[in-house]
Amino acid sequence: MTRPKPLALLLCVLFSMAASQPQAQTIDPLAPTGRWPIRDGSAARTPPMGWSSWNAFRTEITEDKVIGAAEALVSSGLAKRGYVYVNIDDGWWLQRRASDGRLQVRTQLFPSAVVQGSADTSFRPFVDRIHGLGLKAGIYTDIGRNACSQAYDLESPNLPVGSTREREVGLYGHVDQDIQLFLKDWKFDYLKVDACGLADFGADQSVVAAHAYRPMPPAIVRGRPAQTDASKIRGLYEEVAAAIRRHDPANAAFLSICAWGQADVRQWGKDVGQSWRTGEDITPSWSSLLQSFDSAAGRALYAHPGAWNDPDMLFIGAGEFDEHHLTEARSHFSLWAIINAPLLIGYDLRQAPQALLDIWGNSDVIAINQDPAGHQGVLAYSADDLQIIVKTLSDGSKAVALFNRSATSLQATLTADHLKFAKDAPIAVREVWNQQALPAFTGEMALTLAPHETRLLRVNGKRQLPGALYLSELPGLVNVAVDGVRQSELDPTIRRGMSPWSGSRSDGERPVYSGWGGAQADSAPYGTALAVGGRSFASGIGILSGSRIQIKNERRFARFTASVGIDDSTRNRKGSVRFSIYGDGRLLAHTRELAFGQAPVALAANVAGVNIIELVARTHDGSAQPVSTAWGSAALSEAAGQQ
Ligand code: GAL
Repeated sequence: MTRPKPLALLLCVLFSMAASQPQAQTIDPLAPTGRWPIRDGSAARTPPMGWSSWNAFRTEITEDKVIGAAEALVSSGLAKRGYVYVNIDDGWWLQRRASDGRLQVRTQLFPSAVVQGSADTSFRPFVDRIHGLGLKAGIYTDIGRNACSQAYDLESPNLPVGSTREREVGLYGHVDQDIQLFLKDWKFDYLKVDACGLADFGADQSVVAAHAYRPMPPAIVRGRPAQTDASKIRGLYEEVAAAIRRHDPANAAFLSICAWGQADVRQWGKDVGQSWRTGEDITPSWSSLLQSFDSAAGRALYAHPGAWNDPDMLFIGAGEFDEHHLTEARSHFSLWAIINAPLLIGYDLRQAPQALLDIWGNSDVIAINQDPAGHQGVLAYSADDLQIIVKTLSDGSKAVALFNRSATSLQATLTADHLKFAKDAPIAVREVWNQQALPAFTGEMALTLAPHETRLLRVNGKRQLPGALYLSELPGLVNVAVDGVRQSELDPTIRRGMSPWSGSRSDGERPVYSGWGGAQADSAPYGTALAVGGRSFASGIGILSGSRIQIKNERRFARFTASVGIDDSTRNRKGSVRFSIYGDGRLLAHTRELAFGQAPVALAANVAGVNIIELVARTHDGSAQPVSTAWGSAALSEAAGQQ
């Protein structure tokens, strides 16, 4: 071997330093790109559907249980209705082999992973079997060195064994090796990547000393955005996504990010994975359902085909959602359906009562969730006891969920305005769960809701805007490329249920999810009604300045219109904002600098033939505090002259 010459060595060192340094930040994040950045591979065009072992078995998984679930998906007909993923969660691993770092399967639980005549273990026969049933297979790992069960399921007999290093089964330091093993060698289709390894293994955690784990400074401090290193977490998940691209050239794998709504995952999850958990673990209680639902329901603008908010897996079949609580179980399913949540069953399907199979298998509810347009339902009415969520479907009709959060019956009124339908034309109504047509109504309709009931309807009427749709009706076309949130704040509107683990031992449940101030459909960023210079807007997009919204127009609409200005609720009253519309990267229209209190300004652009429309709100005063802005009545018209 020839020794490299000193100059060559120096150049080599400089080059590798340059390659590993982050690029100097010269890119203006508000500059239009004219490019849709979402990697919408075949796996994630609609929310994923399938089964996961966690809510049914925690770490007590066996090959029989998982294969039993897969067979039941097929024999019950659920697979034909779209439930294709069979996902192994935490508990499958034995250790990371010391000699070469290869992950070893616990063959006592998964006997088919024994490789005769070799010290290796392999999930390939198991995955082949799942594939042989016409299904897809998912596996679980962690972004840190250790997994959640190693902190929270300490009594489990299925924790990794061996030395400190051998028990480091998470991805940290092994990303490429493990992703290659999961995707290329074992042929898994779906990866859930949890984050406890970067949250719960700090030097001060008692579990670290007690179990001789290598301490890992927590990059996620739950509920404390200021102490959480969101860019580190994002960077690590990006490494995983890059490895997936290397080892899944067909772009068919699904990456499920499990950072429980922490580390600003709301903002970047869509750019990195196909779904991201918006909250903590769901438990089978009403209170927990409310919290999980809230963590995703106010984030409609951040999800679209290829990228979905994940309020956690279904808990239908257990606790307050078991076969004795069918109203609650149906509510759970209706709500997850209308906000485009992943539909992952968490029940031992080998012995499922028909009443539960009928819930998971309701094809009309599934069709709402799987509608190809991918518009997440938007809150049209929200109070502590009642919410009305409306979702635009690809055939022009709408799905509506009237959700009684309370334990008493309620009288609700559904109005044409909630639906963005004309008040003066009849609205046809079908009840989804029992497929009954209800009498058409004009203007408004009264509905009674039993305690915890969700009435799920499909409605059809005349659009409020002839030949046009409000942008807030089309969240599936929106990508919030930059939402202007400069400093993470905790969202006080998400329900804070009593902890299922520690009860009332603490001094109370505090807000834990960042995202307050993010982009909103039909609301100002901090929850007030949209208003500019004293004029209110029932519809529009509320977003902070320093923001760029992309719209996937794909030459469909001809004209974009809005009434823009600084929202009356803004915290910063001094900054001025310029609003601009771009089409495929070209400036089409803009306002002058607008100030607080000024009347809304009409802004319109011809977008015929445009693929990507971009809406930019920019402040020029350089102040650190963003300004709340409103794209009031933002709408897309089919014909150039309309609106
Ligand atoms: C949690 C995760 C759960 C489950 C569990 C496994 O962090 O949110 O969905 O995967 O870990 O230990």
